[in-house]
Amino acid sequence: MPAANLIDLDNVIHRAGGHPILRVEHLSLPPGRHGLLLGPSGSGKTTLLHMLAGLMVPDQGSLSLLGHDLRAIGDAGRDRLRADHVGIVFQQLHLIAAVSVADNLRLARRLAGSAPDEKGLMDLLARVGLAERARALPSDLSQGERQRVAVARALVNRPALLLADEPTSALDDTNCDAVIDLLLEQAELSGATLLVATHDRRLMSQLPVLLELAKPMEQAA
Ligand SMILES: Nc1ncnc2c1ncn2[C@@H]1O[C@H](COP(=O)(O)OP(=O)(O)OP(=O)(O)O)[C@@H](O)[C@H]1O
Ligand SMILES: [Mg+2]
Repeated sequence: MPAANLIDLDNVIHRAGGHPILRVEHLSLPPGRHGLLLGPSGSGKTTLLHMLAGLMVPDQGSLSLLGHDLRAIGDAGRDRLRADHVGIVFQQLHLIAAVSVADNLRLARRLAGSAPDEKGLMDLLARVGLAERARALPSDLSQGERQRVAVARALVNRPALLLADEPTSALDDTNCDAVIDLLLEQAELSGATLLVATHDRRLMSQLPVLLELAKPMEQAA
């Protein structure tokens, strides 16, 4: 049997505050096809990323993750699917400030119901160059180091799909390249498919555009 697409999305429309905020006709993502969701600020990138992670469902249209209809499986089903198959690097990293780097990763495994895996966890920290900082608090790290913790944490449950929301927009060209290289390299090493939501057109030199969003109000009716 052929492997299922990670994502199958058709005719999705979502509204908020009485207006359409997202309109996407089609997106399918086979395993291994890394790429970009490109669009200007306010075009619905974060909304779409949250849908792909099963954090919310569209008002209209169909959306499946690994062949599971995200609307049909309910909240608990979406939570399970996300824990098992999706890693997210949020724009505002959302690290837990009160616990160490390693504990941030341990907690992510625990919350997903995964068994402890100290070796896997330390290997992952070493891969992102943070083995020496495992006991540090996030506040003791540089912003770039914190971002690497967030990447490691997103991969700690070995997701099939790695989502990253605007990982580079605040960075200069050198650091922009470094972050995308890191995401791609770690996705490949983990066997995950990387989808980056961004308005940063610099990334087009490193990843293909899989979907270009426009603000729904500005689209032709
Ligand atoms: N709950 C909500 N109620 C009303 N409007 C909303 C809500 N959530 C999002 N929006 C609006 O929907 C649009 C898309 O928001 P979204 O955050 O997905 O955009 P984005 O492409 O990620 O933007 P950015 O590049 O600035 O992060 C915006 O105009 C936003 O104001
Ligand atoms: Mg956004």
